Amino acid sequence: MNLFDAIAKRHSVRTYLDKPVEPEKLQSIFSAVRLAPSARNGQEWRFIAVTDPELRERVAAAGGQPFLSQCPVIVAACAETDRRVMRCGEMAYPIDVAIAIDHLTLAAAAMGLGTCWVGSFDPQIVREALGIPENAPVVELIALGYSAEEDKPAADKARLKMSEIFWENSWNNPFLR
Ligand SMILES: Cc1cc2nc3c(=O)[nH]c(=O)nc-3n(C[C@H](O)[C@H](O)[C@H](O)COP(=O)(O)O)c2cc1C
Repeated sequence: MNLFDAIAKRHSVRTYLDKPVEPEKLQSIFSAVRLAPSARNGQEWRFIAVTDPELRERVAAAGGQPFLSQCPVIVAACAETDRRVMRCGEMAYPIDVAIAIDHLTLAAAAMGLGTCWVGSFDPQIVREALGIPENAPVVELIALGYSAEEDKPAADKARLKMSEIFWENSWNNPFLR
C-alpha cells in the first residue's frame, strides 16, 4: 500500500475484533515509528505497548472509553524530556511524540490494522499501572488492533475545505483559485 492509500484508509477505529496483533506486525510498526523526525533528533519519545490483559484493563480505566478495553494493544506514548522550548516558542516533545504517533497510525493502516488516538485519560492512572516516572509526560494512548468496522472512504471525513487551510504568500490568500 502506498502512503496516500494508507492516509486515506486510516480513520479512528472504535470497535475492535477479539483477535491479537501478531508480534511481527507490532515490530514492523515500531520500526516505522523509530524513523520519525524529531527536533534536534532528540527522539524523546518512549512507547509502552500494553498487551497484558490485566494491565490493559487498568490503562483502559484511565480513559473510560469502551474501545480501550476491547483492543488487544494499547500503546502509551510518553516522553523522556527536558521540556526544551524551540526558538519558535513551542515545546519540542509534544510535537515529536505526535509525529511518531502519526507514523504509528499510518504504518498500522498500511498493515491492515486500526488505531485510535486517545487524549482523554487520567495520566496518573496510566503512570501507576505502567511504572512511568513522575517526570515523564504521558502524552497519548493509542488503541491498536483489527477493526470490526467498515472502512470509511476518505471523502466522508469531516474536514475543512482546502481553501480554508491552504494559503499562498500571505494569511488568508487562497492557494487554490
Ligand atoms: C490528539 C488527539 C486526541 C484524540 N483523543 C481522542 C479521544 O480521547 N477519544 C476518541 O474517541 N478519539 C480521540 N481522537 C480521535 C479524533 O476524534 C479523530 O482523529 C478525529 O475526529 C478525526 O477522525 P478520523 O481519525 O477518523 O479521521 C483524538 C485524536 C487526536 C489527534
